[in-house]
Amino acid sequence: MKTAEVDIDEQMGEVGRILAHKEKNRGVLIHVLHQIQEDNGYLPEDILRKLSKNLNISLSEIYSVASFYKMFHFRPRGKKIVKVCLGTACYVRGSKKVLTALETMFDVRSGETAADLSITLETVGCVGCCGLAPVASINEDVVGEIIGEKKLETLIRSIKED
Ligand code: FES
Repeated sequence: MKTAEVDIDEQMGEVGRILAHKEKNRGVLIHVLHQIQEDNGYLPEDILRKLSKNLNISLSEIYSVASFYKMFHFRPRGKKIVKVCLGTACYVRGSKKVLTALETMFDVRSGETAADLSITLETVGCVGCCGLAPVASINEDVVGEIIGEKKLETLIRSIKED
């Protein structure tokens, strides 16, 4: 018995072209989200709405894709992103105290951004610098051995300076 060869592209016709277009739009989505976040520090909803129209991808799908990645943020972030390590080595050497001190000093809870957008305070698991525990980071800079008042004050000064 002879089977006829089926040309999938021909069978799909306009639907195929629409899907190909949609796939192309999905392909650029992550890149565009990166650019929006770089320009704004987060993904503002009004811009995502415009993006939804431009790429012909539903807003809910854009949120679904963006929320899959931890690197995207949906609310404004602070000028200084401060992360306190609560991994085991840091925890046993007092990182919880460091976190509490920062929460008190900047009037912000872990996971929140200060009202003046000066700081976003977060916690992280081990960042691979256990020998320097307890560790925190200010944007990309790692600060280690935050033990004692003097070191804590230095950390706070670094967060406050421009
Ligand atoms: S536990 Fe904090 S750096 Fe490893």
